[in-house]
Amino acid sequence: MAILIKNGRVITADSDSICDILTEGETIAAIGRNLPAPADAQVIDATGKLVLPGGIDPHVHLDMPFMGTFSSDTHETGTRAALHGGTTTVIDFVLQKQGHSLREALTEWQGRATGTAVGDYSFHMAVTDFNPGTREEIKDMVAEGITSFKTFMAYKGALMIDDAQMVGLMQEVRKHGGLVTAHATNGDLIDTLIAQHRAAGQLTPRYHYLSQPEVTEAEASGRFADIANYTGVNAYIVHLTCEGALNQVRRATERNQRVFVETCIQYLLLDASLYGEDFEGAKWVMSPPLREPKDQATLWAGINQGLVQVVGTDHCPFRWEQKQMGRDDFSKIPNGHPAIEHRMELLFSEGVMKGRISPQRFVEVTSTNAAKIFGMFPRKGTISIGADADLVLIDPKKKHTISAATHHMNVDYSAYEGHELTGKITTVLLRGQVAVDAGETKVGRGYGQFIKRGKVSF
Ligand code: URP
Ligand code: ZN
Ligand code: ZN
Ligand code: ZN
Repeated sequence: MAILIKNGRVITADSDSICDILTEGETIAAIGRNLPAPADAQVIDATGKLVLPGGIDPHVHLDMPFMGTFSSDTHETGTRAALHGGTTTVIDFVLQKQGHSLREALTEWQGRATGTAVGDYSFHMAVTDFNPGTREEIKDMVAEGITSFKTFMAYKGALMIDDAQMVGLMQEVRKHGGLVTAHATNGDLIDTLIAQHRAAGQLTPRYHYLSQPEVTEAEASGRFADIANYTGVNAYIVHLTCEGALNQVRRATERNQRVFVETCIQYLLLDASLYGEDFEGAKWVMSPPLREPKDQATLWAGINQGLVQVVGTDHCPFRWEQKQMGRDDFSKIPNGHPAIEHRMELLFSEGVMKGRISPQRFVEVTSTNAAKIFGMFPRKGTISIGADADLVLIDPKKKHTISAATHHMNVDYSAYEGHELTGKITTVLLRGQVAVDAGETKVGRGYGQFIKRGKVSF
């Protein structure tokens, strides 16, 4: 089946032109002006619309066991919601259980995602216990297309590794050409502050925020960059939120080190004033927490300076009932917020339509850079002949309002309730199939495929 998309304004990371795109099977077959429609082709008129590469969200947690519960979107509901928001590929985190193997964790996650995901997906492997056995498994993971290894420098006793494990992991990953990523915050310092607040009876969600001040992130970001520089491994900091941490990355560039940086949509758009005196702030209890307006300004500038390459979500939704686990103690609130569905439209409206970033930069940070860093380019992340026909059509003038009443995520509140946006995604193609059109899902459970990844090509 062929699809001909006519007269759209086709935007990639380095081009912008009015043209047609012809898909055949799962890939793009032709790009040009006045392309003739093959006899059996479905024709989509994109006049007045932008046509962009399908979004890639490299930071999502689907159906993840965490803090005594599971994140509430499954691979089915989460990838479906992602498609509605123009994200055609996600990278989810497999979590090694401390004391167990990487293989066991991978098998568990494959069991949840295979045959259920609606959109395309890949996995990062989170190494929570680096030991001689784990070391042996790294090359096997790389061979299977899992080329990025996540580390947590916080969540002691559950996910955190120490610096000795970090250096060992980096040395091994470097040997196999992979990438090490980090949740870069100082777990010991955070745990101390949490204990102090609890001892003082300071138990509301606001104290979650006060337990993770900027220094906890800046210190760990610098340490991570330093160890990565020493080992020579490709390094990537996930969900970077603040000026102090970005300055550590800036410092690393002065010795000609490249540390990739991902921020997330919430850190660009929301701030810590949402942590009020009541429990409502639990909706935004995530780690790291929301920061200050000056940090938002640093992050927007960082995107345009090329220091921040990726805008993800860290989608980790919990239903309101799950958030109640921490009603009497902020440290028990499951950390995370829902955003997988709205990253692209939020960034388009707040970034492109408000003139903070160019359309090309938008494509880079929502798709192309993640494809290059995580070894999926040019199959994913661009519009070129032979690439997967993952395409997003946006009506740039259409206004709409975010609400839990209309979203597709399996969570009963929205972290962006009432946000008014300019620019609406109207049609989404995934591997040559119309996946979403006019608000309706057109592909089913199991359509999503596992994407085997290669090495960094940035
Ligand atoms: O609060 C968050 N970020 N939850 C998900 C786990 C993580 O740290 O990324
Ligand atoms: Zn085991
Ligand atoms: Zn994290
Ligand atoms: Zn995360």
